[in-house]
Amino acid sequence: MSQRILVAFASKYGATAEIAARIGQVLREVGLHVDVQPAETVSDLSPYTAVILGSAVYAGSWRKEAVHFLETFEDKLAQMPVWLFSSGPTGQGDPLTLLKGWNFPDAQKPLTDHIQPRDLVLFHGEINMQKLNFGEKLIIKGLKAPVGDFRDWKAISAWTMSVADVLKHGATQMPQ
Ligand SMILES: Cc1cc2nc3c(=O)[nH]c(=O)nc-3n(C[C@H](O)[C@H](O)[C@H](O)COP(=O)(O)O)c2cc1C
Repeated sequence: MSQRILVAFASKYGATAEIAARIGQVLREVGLHVDVQPAETVSDLSPYTAVILGSAVYAGSWRKEAVHFLETFEDKLAQMPVWLFSSGPTGQGDPLTLLKGWNFPDAQKPLTDHIQPRDLVLFHGEINMQKLNFGEKLIIKGLKAPVGDFRDWKAISAWTMSVADVLKHGATQMPQ
């Protein structure tokens, strides 16, 4: 059966949308058929053989469109290969260290316990002060969060290649 992969995303200011677009591009380059779509525009998973879903992180939560996607398609997702990514932390260094080990909201853990994603990864994000509303600017200034584009395109591509490996060959290849 030929594969068709959905890359769905939830993004407020576009940084996560661009990560999803890059994931789609990398998968296409290895010959996979991919659709990249905002999570809220997906109404049917039946055309797809695997799903990658990502959300920007705001105040420790996933965006509601991504949570809604998980809730709506929970049973279907539990029967197919699924990969999840969060995108948020700004600053240099390992994203997991920046968030002290956090990579996914606790509130959605019951969903992932059922869906059993193949992986749950955390990528750096981007904060562009010019795009933020007044309240958000105050929060970022108050937290002294690093401002700028910290997205690690090499890490995103490498992770996507590991996903492609599983999609194309069916098994996780352990490095020698
Ligand atoms: C008000 C505000 C709150 C944020 N809260 C978090 C957070 O709790 N954890 C985190 O890792 N990143 C947080 N971020 C960073 C965003 O996740 C990051 O900017 C992300 O790349 C935005 O993606 P988007 O452009 O797709 O919306 C926050 C950003 C803003 C502006």
